[in-house]
Amino acid sequence: MNSARACTAAGCSHILLFIPRRKVSGHGMLKTFHIRTYGCQMNERDSEALGCLLEEHGYTLAPGEETADILIFNTCSVRDQAERKVFGKVGLTKRLRRQRPEVIIGVIGCMAQEHGAALLERFAHLDFVVGTDQLHTVPGIVAEIARERSRRVATETGADDTEALSGHRPGAVSAFVSVMRGCNQFCSYCVVPQVRGRERSRLPEDVVREVRQLAGQGTKEIFLLGQNITAYGIAEARRDGTYSPDASPFADLLRAVNDVPGVERIRFTSPHPKFMNQAFLDAVCELPKVCKAFHIPLQSGADRILELMHRGTTAKEYLARIRHLRERLPEVGFSTDIIVGFPTETDVEFAATRQAMNEAGFDMAYIFKYSPRPGTKAAEKLPDDVPQSVKEERNQILLADLVARAESANTRYQGRTVRVLVEGESKRNSTRWTGRSDTNKVCIFPRTDGMQPGDLVDVVITRTTANSLFGCVAEEA
Ligand code: SAH
Ligand code: SF4
Ligand code: F3S
Repeated sequence: MNSARACTAAGCSHILLFIPRRKVSGHGMLKTFHIRTYGCQMNERDSEALGCLLEEHGYTLAPGEETADILIFNTCSVRDQAERKVFGKVGLTKRLRRQRPEVIIGVIGCMAQEHGAALLERFAHLDFVVGTDQLHTVPGIVAEIARERSRRVATETGADDTEALSGHRPGAVSAFVSVMRGCNQFCSYCVVPQVRGRERSRLPEDVVREVRQLAGQGTKEIFLLGQNITAYGIAEARRDGTYSPDASPFADLLRAVNDVPGVERIRFTSPHPKFMNQAFLDAVCELPKVCKAFHIPLQSGADRILELMHRGTTAKEYLARIRHLRERLPEVGFSTDIIVGFPTETDVEFAATRQAMNEAGFDMAYIFKYSPRPGTKAAEKLPDDVPQSVKEERNQILLADLVARAESANTRYQGRTVRVLVEGESKRNSTRWTGRSDTNKVCIFPRTDGMQPGDLVDVVITRTTANSLFGCVAEEA
């Protein structure tokens, strides 16, 4: 019989659904874990921090999922395909459970928040489901399952403990730092506000403390994360009565992070064009450590579609921001997100997207085929009436445009010297090393004596493709 009880994890007073399951032996000796991550950088960051929390509780990282005692799927609900991948993967772990009955298997993150207890019903071998605000309870839940052989669901909202989830893998050249959670934007197609809740920003001093610690351990690049990062601090300012449309708490945060000694580069994602006011534009142009590569989701180039999407900006306003940045910055790169086949999108509207993308001159773009998400306005109010074949065709057209543009745009780097933050060996060819330019171009070059990940080197570019720049480290004068 199901029952409810208070969570016994440290610092958590929430009620958890408790579902008994069959008896197995061996749970008491669980030692290793593996987290398989799907979805965006926020999920990658959550998995990293949860991994650190599990290590603090005495568990160690297993080399692979086959050998792990605790197997966790951190999941994404943003498109149907993302969910289907996880359903398939979790289904396959039934075999693992048969071979090793003591293994604990859990689903956490956005799908856990979206589907809750229904996941336990769908997968009889699944042990726990933990939503986006309850990740800090995972060590306690795992310990309880090991003790009581129970099945658990924890999806209460409003209880996330970001400060308990601030651990980092040591020694990384580049580190994600989450500055806020949730989203208040409610774009009509998007499930994120549903699964991640309302915007909650961390205090600037907490963010800066985390950045200082990372810089002290040798991290050179700080990648700030928030679903709607340009709205950082705005919900709080509104609540306190200090909100001003001319201010940008995110710009203030960028200035504070820029002042941290040891930090060489700052990147962030995702800004929303609606919140890119003058204070924000000034900060990104003025601050030397802010990389001049911006990922700014456009979604569509047609104003009627943008309005149906509830984006809050027109294509013209979007392009004006890009023009402003291009005029002020001698070298800058842009990337974006686009949705093709949004309900009622016509050929003419698709052509407007193509046109806007050409005008913006994106180096890179993620193109998505519209996928109706249950519970969103678009799914409830608009027909998914663009045939799959048309979505696919529009997708292919934009991808071909991008490759052609990137190929010709990258040739401008030939013969030039670019400053590269060294990441390590190239995956494809271990005799070469790889890193990124300030404008986020992947650069590949032969290693020189004494070169280490985290070094900043000047690379003379001799050859370019649509994806990468190739060259040699410049001789020191
Ligand atoms: N917070 C980020 C993006 C979050 S989701 C932002 O607003 O910039 C990443 C991308 O997935 C979105 O930018 C959008 O292009 C795409 N996306 C979101 N919901 C989608 C849906 N229902 N169908 C197809 N693509 C979607
Ligand atoms: Fe989704 Fe829009 Fe929020 Fe981005 S800004 S997470 S697309 S609702
Ligand atoms: Fe997916 Fe959740 Fe990120 S829905 S895109 S993993 S916030």
